[in-house]
Amino acid sequence: MYFAKHLFICTNQRNNPCRKSCGDHDMGAHALDYLKGHAKKMGLMGKGKLRISQAGCLGRCDEGPVMVLYPQGRWYTYANDADLQEILEEDLANDRVVARLLIKP
Ligand code: FES
Repeated sequence: MYFAKHLFICTNQRNNPCRKSCGDHDMGAHALDYLKGHAKKMGLMGKGKLRISQAGCLGRCDEGPVMVLYPQGRWYTYANDADLQEILEEDLANDRVVARLLIKP
């Protein structure tokens, strides 16, 4: 496998104010910058390791903000930097599932 893990972070902003969106408060864009920056510093990125990509709507807006890790198929939500840090340190770096932030597959 070219990448052991490929994380897609939704940065889409929906225009319907009645539904949650990954773009609320620029959460998706912030998560992308945060995780990419920290993962690079930790040496997690690259061939055979991790890639992090921006994605448009992943189709789970009501559960947003969301990201999905493939091929593991783990969907996460998050609310703040502490959540992002936990996903980084536990799952991206050490392959330990962060059960409290998982959303149903
Ligand atoms: S806006 Fe992120 S899943 Fe739809």
